[in-house]
Amino acid sequence: MTRPLLDGTEAVLFDAYGTLFDVHAAVQRHAAAVGPDAGRLSEVWRSKQLEYSWVRGLAGRYRSFWSLTEEALDYALAQHPGVDRALRGPLLDAYRELDAYPEVPGVLAALRARGLRTGIFSNGDPAMLERAVSAAGLAAHLDAVLSVEAAGTFKVHPDTYAGAVAQMGASTDRVLFCSSNRWDVAGAAAFGLRCAWINRRGLPDEYADLPPAAVLADLNGLSQPTA
Ligand code: LAC
Repeated sequence: MTRPLLDGTEAVLFDAYGTLFDVHAAVQRHAAAVGPDAGRLSEVWRSKQLEYSWVRGLAGRYRSFWSLTEEALDYALAQHPGVDRALRGPLLDAYRELDAYPEVPGVLAALRARGLRTGIFSNGDPAMLERAVSAAGLAAHLDAVLSVEAAGTFKVHPDTYAGAVAQMGASTDRVLFCSSNRWDVAGAAAFGLRCAWINRRGLPDEYADLPPAAVLADLNGLSQPTA
């Protein structure tokens, strides 16, 4: 029998964007005004935001994740000239206050009721994380909101995961890391963390040599008694 997911776990860390917060909620909120390119615009915005983080991490040119988010939207808008550029401000405002996935508050509360500590660990800079957490009403359910900013680089640099574990005050083997981003799970697993991949979109697996301990469709699986 495999080890239950939360066995021996003291703290559960969550990636923010895509895992707790729906990154496509910003464009969805303005879908009618954006028009038929809404889905593609949102995908390009997200994929460029991530690409910029990897390039800047590898090049040693850290900048705030918020500035990368702005630059990624500018690129996405440039690639979709049919979308009204006047939506730039409203889309960024919506990104500051993304929707949390519906199960998030209940799962965080259930984990804390079991005596586990909960935290966010994200590429997001502290100000954007604080605003997102407060807008989604999650502050009361979290013991820590941790940013890669302290490490001065982005996931998947091992220093970022090491910093987050140290700040949770737990040893690596007592922390479970949950992310919907398979590349983030690969990075955390390479560092040595036990991971749950929250495969919200039913994507095929990858990074076969850096597997998660569990694959869940959403966060609900974490609050099951046997998790
Ligand atoms: C984060 C992004 C990568 O929150 O989803 O770290």
